[in-house]
Amino acid sequence: MPSVLAADFSSLGRSVRKAEKGGADWISVDVMDGHFVPNLSFGPGHVEALTQATGLPIDAHLMVSAPWNFIEAFAQAGAGMIVVHWEACRGAGTSSTSPGAVLKKIRRSGAKAGLALRPKTGAGKALPYLAQADLILVMTVEPGFGGQAFMRDMLPKVKRLRQEISKRRLPVWLQVDGGIDRRTAPLAVESGADALVAGSAVFGARDPAAAVRDLKRIANAKWQSGEK
Ligand code: DX5
Repeated sequence: MPSVLAADFSSLGRSVRKAEKGGADWISVDVMDGHFVPNLSFGPGHVEALTQATGLPIDAHLMVSAPWNFIEAFAQAGAGMIVVHWEACRGAGTSSTSPGAVLKKIRRSGAKAGLALRPKTGAGKALPYLAQADLILVMTVEPGFGGQAFMRDMLPKVKRLRQEISKRRLPVWLQVDGGIDRRTAPLAVESGADALVAGSAVFGARDPAAAVRDLKRIANAKWQSGEK
């Protein structure tokens, strides 16, 4: 899932088509409100424009303080998945809306529903919502910026969530986002991730299509060896 946060902002469509050529499965759009994270990025209009530029499904990762207010807009814009942060829901005391209610609203909007955990939020906070989510996102960097170093101390969290998802045989994707490259992708897969977001490793490469192809080859090889 290449993240357009690292793409050429002067031509997102061209960047996304290069990733698509390399076999990307989804496109990840990092939405930032300058409040939940100290950065500003994309809105529903970018998602809508990207649905015209590619046939790939789009994952809108809402790094925003009031995700409840934006679900309809991103669903209408064509986001196939909307991912909200646990820390922006009631559990963290920052809003009156529980993660369960937000996930339900996303599914009612027609999109797949994801719940994201910042590095400091433990796996246990996501466990009560595994049956209501289509995806759990473990951030392996502090959200807000691309190009940061992969946080290896997040791997036990990935393992813990994989254990629980597999034990309960839930059809939940376990996504890792932050510092994913050819070196860290195998670590994330080995720990149980089955969806990887990569920004700099794809759009910072001379040939983004080749970078996607290379990352998928490495990740798939690890998945296959893990299945044996
Ligand atoms: C952080 C963003 C980044 C981005 C991926 O808020 O979510 O993790 O998608 O960036 P890289 O792959 O450059 O770490």
